[in-house]
Amino acid sequence: MAERKPVIITPQQLEEQRAYMNEILNLPQRPRSYYVVTYGCQMNAHDSEILAGMLRDMGMDEAPDRENADFVIFNTCCVRDNAERRALGNVTWLKEVRKRNPNLIIAVCGCMIQQPGMAEKILKQYKFIDLAFGTTNLYKLPELLCRRLNADRAVVEVEDVDTIAEDLPVKRLRRDAAYITIMYGCDNFCSYCIVPYVRGRERSREMEAILAEAQQLKDSGVKEIMLLGQNVNSYGKGLEGNVTFAELLRRLDAMGIPRIRFMTSHPKDLSDELIRVMGESKHILPQFHLPVQAGNDEILHQMNRRYTREQYLNRVRALREAVPGIGLTTDIIVGFPGETEEQFQDTMSLVKEVGYDSAFTFIYSPRTGTKAAAMENQIPEDVATDRIQRLIALQDECQKKAMARFVGMEDEVLVEGLSRRSKTAVSGKGRHGVSITLPGSEADIGEIVRVRVTEIKNNTLMAERT
Ligand code: 5AD
Ligand code: SF4
Repeated sequence: MAERKPVIITPQQLEEQRAYMNEILNLPQRPRSYYVVTYGCQMNAHDSEILAGMLRDMGMDEAPDRENADFVIFNTCCVRDNAERRALGNVTWLKEVRKRNPNLIIAVCGCMIQQPGMAEKILKQYKFIDLAFGTTNLYKLPELLCRRLNADRAVVEVEDVDTIAEDLPVKRLRRDAAYITIMYGCDNFCSYCIVPYVRGRERSREMEAILAEAQQLKDSGVKEIMLLGQNVNSYGKGLEGNVTFAELLRRLDAMGIPRIRFMTSHPKDLSDELIRVMGESKHILPQFHLPVQAGNDEILHQMNRRYTREQYLNRVRALREAVPGIGLTTDIIVGFPGETEEQFQDTMSLVKEVGYDSAFTFIYSPRTGTKAAAMENQIPEDVATDRIQRLIALQDECQKKAMARFVGMEDEVLVEGLSRRSKTAVSGKGRHGVSITLPGSEADIGEIVRVRVTEIKNNTLMAERT
């Protein structure tokens, strides 16, 4: 793939968008309320926070639900077929709502739209969609909406460029915890994965811009930041100077934000330096999301993951040595083209060997344009379903065993909300990323509470306050 330079969106370009926002504010027929429906990963969740920030600045309030909004945006995902189908199903259903509210504007954006030729295809099939735009021109929402409001036909804009836009408005979902994107895109081209095609080439934000955003969040009282990127371990590639993810973490750790997390990491780029920084840091949480995808070397090779089972296990050992008791989570795909029962058993044995705190398990889903979609030996659905069921059962068992190490341990919980089971209990994540329930009330939400884990009940860690 040819080298592409990232395009930095200039302050002037953002000023232009501000002008469109003001134009919309003066339109009598402008929408007054919005609702954003988000599919997929944290990257999308954060993009939705930016969409909401721009909509707020265009004078719209968030509607309680999509049925009561004037403007609904579907921020889509296309990493697996079911994410696409769900989004299109919900878009179609909204067509009925328009019969009641003829002024309703429906937009579809994000990864699904960024696929080559997809926007045109969808608009042909779903004629009631007003607006479609991709992942790289999110910042243009004011302009696109303005064009739609001034003309009576659909507006489509998908650009094949790799943008970085700083200082966009953002309306954050939580006050105590915040996302910070540190890098965009991915250059890894794992053979099953559509992400490099819809999120573009890998590019990193300047470290100073990230540190400034983190400082601002800290000053506003945020207690936890989550650094986001498709492959955060290779942060800094293409930037001037010797900038690494380990260095970024060191600088953030020194800032004194109580809790720092990040995702996603690629095992091949997980450096010893990064592991050392994790071991030495105060605020980087003892948890690591390290997708393995498969436990068999031949399948890993076919997936273009560029590590072996042994190299992966070596990284796990190094992490556990530097950060004893570290919380480990992973992603696993079953039913990759050509996967034999024997090769699947290698994934099962790896899961047993590592003992993850949790695993996201997926049935392989062919994605048009990827290398694996063109491979022979696609695995029948019933075989893949049977494998994933066995894998989930095994992981459940391993998870129970892994949880036992927390009983008796002192920990800190960032309280997220009231417990679903009791009115006098709250729950949140401990430092290792595992959910913990403790006695408490609404007043604890957004606070960090010191606890001691007492027992495991219904697969949940229960704790007392200390
Ligand atoms: N089929 C199934 N799972 C996939 N993932 C990515 N692409 C596919 C696909 N085509 C999974 C990987 C990745 C996670 C975000 O989604 O496990 O780590
Ligand atoms: Fe997809 Fe692989 Fe990039 Fe992850 S590292 S986004 S799985 S191509």
